[in-house]
Amino acid sequence: MKKTLEVKTGTDKYKILIGDNILSSSGSLIKKKLINPRVFIITNKFIHKLYGKKLENSLKKNKISFNKIVINDGEQYKNIKTINLITSKLLEYKIDRNDTLIAFGGGVIGDIVGFSASITLRGINFIQIPTTLLSQVDSAVGGKTGVNTKEGKNLIGTFYQPKLVIADVSLLKTLPKREILSGYAEIIKYGLIMDKKFLHWLLDNESKLKTYNKKYLIEAVFRSCKNKAIIVKKDEKEKNIRAILNLGHTFGHAIEAINHYQKSLTHGEAVSIGIMMALEMSSLQGNILNKNLNKIKDHFQELKMKTKIPINIKSKTSLKKFKEIMNSDKKVKNNHINLILLKNLGKAYLASRYSTKKLDSVINKYIN
Ligand SMILES: NC(=O)c1ccc[n+]([C@@H]2O[C@H](COP(=O)([O-])OP(=O)(O)OC[C@H]3O[C@@H](n4cnc5c(N)ncnc54)[C@H](O)[C@@H]3O)[C@@H](O)[C@H]2O)c1
Ligand SMILES: [Zn+2]
Repeated sequence: MKKTLEVKTGTDKYKILIGDNILSSSGSLIKKKLINPRVFIITNKFIHKLYGKKLENSLKKNKISFNKIVINDGEQYKNIKTINLITSKLLEYKIDRNDTLIAFGGGVIGDIVGFSASITLRGINFIQIPTTLLSQVDSAVGGKTGVNTKEGKNLIGTFYQPKLVIADVSLLKTLPKREILSGYAEIIKYGLIMDKKFLHWLLDNESKLKTYNKKYLIEAVFRSCKNKAIIVKKDEKEKNIRAILNLGHTFGHAIEAINHYQKSLTHGEAVSIGIMMALEMSSLQGNILNKNLNKIKDHFQELKMKTKIPINIKSKTSLKKFKEIMNSDKKVKNNHINLILLKNLGKAYLASRYSTKKLDSVINKYIN
């Protein structure tokens, strides 16, 4: 079972291959994209142990030579120090401009490797093999790369597209349920912002998604990537429409920042809460009906997704502080917080005009 999608950008195009158990045959797919038959696998210790052999065997079978750079696991390593380490290793290995990097892991690995690829020898090819649901439906597609600094998340980075994305849903069987739900927040986001049919398909197939039915997972990953590809084609560098992909993220990033990006709350969990806040705001603005807001909330709760800010995080903030953090978001222009809101279910827009009183009341409801 394999599905293929194409992402077109202003200057290039690449394929996303989505399927069950395609890692074991990835070597032949990768080979077609190589100039030199030499790759650098960049992964973390955990994924290396779980799936390293599967990838390596497939490369060997296809006579692709490889070196490995195995880094520590965790968002705390998504920083310039790790980029230094990786690029130095690549140079020590005498990397050639025609060699290729393989990002083998979740969004953290994908963002780090994409960034490294974009700056090593002024840009070398890279391939994404995303291993988490979040990275398969979101971070591996669209070419945003980057690292965190003490000032915030993803503030240093580049737009740099991969040459190929291979998403094998069989890898998700080892992913903790929490991480699956984190990815699901990004999946339902596509339904909410731009694809009403997909949203209804998700709501209707709640029970299948809850049990990780492979056929339904592949379909959900495929339809998510398809939506992301549409947006990226229209606006690769987030000059306008791409911003709607940030539904729930301005709120979510604030929650993550208050929690100091600790593991106790994943990005997807923060986004899940953030989406609920954005929907509440959309409802207060009179854009979506209360019954629709409740329908989505019920779905989130049924899947055991987060819809409330945990008490230990709430207790660390105030309305003023929350808004200050929202203000430091990349979406802020001229000191005004732009929000992504829904016009209705399946249609998002960038709202620069809204009632600040209503925004305050939404934040207050969630932090008190
Ligand atoms: N570039 C983009 O457009 C974009 C979009 C969304 C998010 N992101 C970034 O992505 C990152 C989050 O990505 P993530 O949620 O994939 O987190 P992650 O990469 O940290 O992975 C989560 C955890 O799951 C483990 N893991 C990965 N694959 C596994 C598997 N198959 N089985 C078991 N465990 C596995 C990882 O080792 C890690 O411990 C954040 O840094 C975020 O900023 C980037
Ligand atoms: Zn996200």
